[in-house]
Amino acid sequence: MGCAISGLGLIPKQQTQPRNEDDAVAHLADEQIEMIKESWKVIQEDIAKVGIIMFVRLFETHPECKDVFFLFRDVQDLEKLRTSKELRAHGLRVMSFIEKSVARLDELDRLDLLALELGKTHYRYNAPPKYYGYVGAEFICAVRPILKDKWTPELEKAWKTLFQYVTGLMQQGYLEEEGAKHNHVMVSTKERPDKRNTAL
Ligand code: HEM
Repeated sequence: MGCAISGLGLIPKQQTQPRNEDDAVAHLADEQIEMIKESWKVIQEDIAKVGIIMFVRLFETHPECKDVFFLFRDVQDLEKLRTSKELRAHGLRVMSFIEKSVARLDELDRLDLLALELGKTHYRYNAPPKYYGYVGAEFICAVRPILKDKWTPELEKAWKTLFQYVTGLMQQGYLEEEGAKHNHVMVSTKERPDKRNTAL
């Protein structure tokens, strides 16, 4: 089950700190976009399988992620999850997002909006950015055996960059949503004395 992969546990320790050099600039070069699209044609035939492998691996390597999922947090035997309909459905939702991301590689503005929005929904799911960086590494471990000799270091770098790109925007969306909620609370607190004054 081992899959040695480096450089993708990239999310900063403090959400507000600058990111490290690996994920500072997630810029996708044209050749990387082409490589990703080409490899996706092979990966998409196995998306349900990849989704499951990716999440079982994520829960094995980072058990703290499992606690975020209401449906899976009490499952002790991770092998049972391999046949779980719920994990299959969840894996497919995430893989469909990756599919949409690949389809928007030529329209990055649209991908940006999608990923920002996803970050906002993850704030509501209580899934913090410190965990996002783990997903790309598990995705790579899951798809590498499927691509066999089509897998190259360049392709790996391209996928890492895509995940950095998406998770960077998710983090931004998460923080925006957190800020919005915080400001809302601040405003409500400030408003309270005024309301009381009016009532007096
Ligand atoms: C690359 C990183 C990730 C991507 C692309 C991603 C994508 C998604 C998508 C597409 C959904 C479906 C619902 C929606 O669209 O809002 C979802 C739901 C969810 N995600 Fe993520 N996710 C990522 C990382 C994580 C991590 C690391 C966690 C927890 C540690 C997490 C926790 C959740 C939870 C709790 C839900 C709601 C339950 C569900 O839909 O089954 N996600 N995610």
